[in-house]
Amino acid sequence: MAKVVELENVRREYLVGDQVTVALDDVTVAIESGEFVAIVGPSGSGKSTMMNLIGCLDRPSSGDVRISGSATRELSDNELTALRSKAIGFVFQQFQLLPNTSALENVMAPLLYQGISTKVAKQRATEMLTKLGLAERLNFDRNRLSGGQQQRVAIARALVTSPDIVLADEPTGALDSKTGAQVIELLKELHAEGRTIILITHDLDIAASAPRRIFLRDGLIEKDERGHA
Ligand SMILES: Nc1ncnc2c1ncn2[C@@H]1O[C@H](COP(=O)(O)OP(=O)(O)O)[C@@H](O)[C@H]1O
Ligand SMILES: [Mg+2]
Repeated sequence: MAKVVELENVRREYLVGDQVTVALDDVTVAIESGEFVAIVGPSGSGKSTMMNLIGCLDRPSSGDVRISGSATRELSDNELTALRSKAIGFVFQQFQLLPNTSALENVMAPLLYQGISTKVAKQRATEMLTKLGLAERLNFDRNRLSGGQQQRVAIARALVTSPDIVLADEPTGALDSKTGAQVIELLKELHAEGRTIILITHDLDIAASAPRRIFLRDGLIEKDERGHA
């Protein structure tokens, strides 16, 4: 299987004033295409730092991060942005749908950004929203959608470009437990279809849904666990 994410001796430190914080300390790990992995850890353990590195939003201080084979340290800002647009689909805790914009337009946006024609974008976005059970909601903006529906629109938006990796940051954090469980079921289905899913969470119960769990503590990998508990 192809490795879609490779971190090799990755260190990320932040300098605030004259104070250095080591957010990730010599992390080496690989994730293969088609895996469903949870990155788990308490607050301050380095989850967001790792997500930003995998999501091509940031580069390591030292070591290498390779996403779909490209070492992010060697890319210009524009190349990093292009890699992000092609390789990563983001799902956020607060959904982050555009305001006063229909579900359909939200899902079309990343396709239009990639230079795909309006006609094709509309067709693909409609198909994806229909697949996620939102065929009746295409023209609704976020004010007319429940939290669970908004997160499904956000997942459709993440999937529509067929990214190598779906990166979901606390995707159930703003949902009640029943709706959150439905979102996790959806991620499991997408994994069963062959998508690569990386789920970032501080919640051990949520993490238990993933067949592989990478536990972070103080910027280090404490445990890399496979198989269902
Ligand atoms: N932009 C930043 N500037 C300074 N320190 C940061 C920054 N981002 C994170 N940190 C520090 O790095 C460590 C890891 O943070 P983070 O990756 O946000 O962990 P988590 O997402 O697991 O809560 C923490 O000690 C945090 O205070
Ligand atoms: Mg965080």
